[in-house]
Amino acid sequence: MSHTDDHEGTRRDFLYYATGGTAAVAAGAVALPLVNQMNPSADVLALASIRVDISGVAPGTQLTVKWQGKPVFIRHRTDEEIAEARAVEMGELIDAEARNENRSIGADAADQNRSLDEEGKWLVMMGVCTHLGCVPLGDGAGEFHGWFCPCHGSHYDTSGRIRKGPAPENLPVPVASFVDENTVQLGEEA
Ligand code: FES
Repeated sequence: MSHTDDHEGTRRDFLYYATGGTAAVAAGAVALPLVNQMNPSADVLALASIRVDISGVAPGTQLTVKWQGKPVFIRHRTDEEIAEARAVEMGELIDAEARNENRSIGADAADQNRSLDEEGKWLVMMGVCTHLGCVPLGDGAGEFHGWFCPCHGSHYDTSGRIRKGPAPENLPVPVASFVDENTVQLGEEA
């Protein structure tokens, strides 16, 4: 493990304990016998879950939180954003894979397979450009009204799917779930 990895691990631990809460700590304790069989990085990933209060995120705005050392976008989409995302045919996409770690079925990049709820009001994605890792700009940026990565000009649509530019893949959707209507958990269920 490199020095950088050590540093990352420390930051993840800090985030986990600072925001994970009692439930996440309890889940970590339960998970420990299992993850002992795995490598250290998988151990850290398995234990790292955080809960995010989304009650203040109005439609048309987003929250960026740091999780596992990376930004995560939690966007409350408008009806227009949802409609735009859902009108797109798979043949128009550069990457037709869902890139959603929550799903074992519905693997194509239809918006329904990427949004957190059925209506599509909430979209949770890693805020890391799939080209070389910059953090894309949001709030309707770019030619497809979603996100735009200014590093080399990648345009993502309102579902976070790559539509133009050098990025090869859609923005990844991490494991996430609703704890209640005001709380989203990133990472495995507690
Ligand atoms: S890192 Fe985003 S376009 Fe290159």
